[in-house]
Amino acid sequence: MTTEGTDMTQPEMAPSTAAAAPLPPPPGPADQATPLVAMRNINIAFGGVHAVRDVSIDLFPGELIGLVGHNGAGKSTLMRALAGAHPADSGEIFINGEAVTIKNPRDAKRYAIETIYQTLALAENIDAPGNMFLGRELTTRIGTLDDSSMESETRKIMHRLNPNFRSFAQPVRNLSGGQRQAIAIARAIYFNAKILVMDEPTAALGPSETAQVHDLVRQLKSEGIGIFLVSHDIHDVFDLSDRICVMYHGRVVDVVRPADVTSDEVLGMIILGKRPTEVTQEELAVLRT
Ligand SMILES: Nc1ncnc2c1ncn2[C@@H]1O[C@H](COP(=O)(O)OP(=O)(O)O)[C@@H](O)[C@H]1O
Ligand SMILES: [Mg+2]
Repeated sequence: MTTEGTDMTQPEMAPSTAAAAPLPPPPGPADQATPLVAMRNINIAFGGVHAVRDVSIDLFPGELIGLVGHNGAGKSTLMRALAGAHPADSGEIFINGEAVTIKNPRDAKRYAIETIYQTLALAENIDAPGNMFLGRELTTRIGTLDDSSMESETRKIMHRLNPNFRSFAQPVRNLSGGQRQAIAIARAIYFNAKILVMDEPTAALGPSETAQVHDLVRQLKSEGIGIFLVSHDIHDVFDLSDRICVMYHGRVVDVVRPADVTSDEVLGMIILGKRPTEVTQEELAVLRT
C-alpha cells in the first residue's frame, strides 16, 4: 500500500482538508482494499458554472457504480475528467493507490481507462474488425494491414461477449444498436480496459438490446473490471449497481447500496439533493404528488 489513512471512523463525505486521504473501504473481501480508482475533491467549472464540486468517490475491482442525478448534475463532466476529455481544475485521481495526472485521453488509456458513450461512436462504413482496430490497426511484419489477424482477434473477443454475433463482414451501419454497442465494448476491453466509463450506454437501445448490454456488463464485472455507469434509468441502476452515487448540482448527495434504499428514496435524493433522513414530511408529500 502506498497510500495511508484507511481510517474506518472517517465519515464518507466529510468536508475534506487532507486531499489524499482515501475513503474507508466498503465492507468486502480484503483483496478489494485498494480502489482501482479514487477521485478526491474534484472540482470543475465552466466560467460561472461550477459543474463538479468537491467530489470524492472510489471504484473497486469488479464493482459497478451507478452514477445518477438530474440533467446538468455533473455526471458526464466528472466522467470526462477521468477519461481525460476535460481535465479537472483541482483535485486528485489515484489509480491502484497511485496518484496520476490525466490530461488527455491518451493518459487515460495508459491507465487502462476506456469510455463508451451512448452515441455509439463507430465508423459506419466499415465492418466490425475495422472498427475494433480503428486507429490501432494490426500490421504484418512487412507493414501491410493484417486483416486476417484483425478478423480472428475480433471473432475471439466477440465470441466471449456475444456468441451469437455473426456479422463480421458487414458495415456496422447495417447492425442493430445492441450489436454496435457490443463492438464498442469489445473494442474497449480488447485494449485491456480495467476501468470502464459507460455514459448512458443503452439510451439509444431497445429493451432486448439493453438486456444484452446488461449481460455484457455483468460479465465484465465478473472479470474484475470496474465500471462507472451513468444512467437516467433508475431500474438499470438498481439492477446493475453495487453502489449508487447520487449527484445534485455538482455535488455527491450520497453513495448507497441498492439493498439499503428504495428506488423512491433514490429518486428523492435525485430530485431534492438530500439524503432520505434529511427529507421533511412536506417534501415527501410534494414528491408523492
Ligand atoms: N463544455 C461545457 N461548457 C460549458 N458548460 C458545460 C460544458 N459541459 C457541461 N457544462 C455544464 O456543466 C453542468 C454539468 O453538466 P453535465 O456534466 O453534462 O451534467 P449531466 O451529465 O449530469 O447531465 C451543466 O450545467 C452543463 O451545462
Ligand atoms: Mg450527461
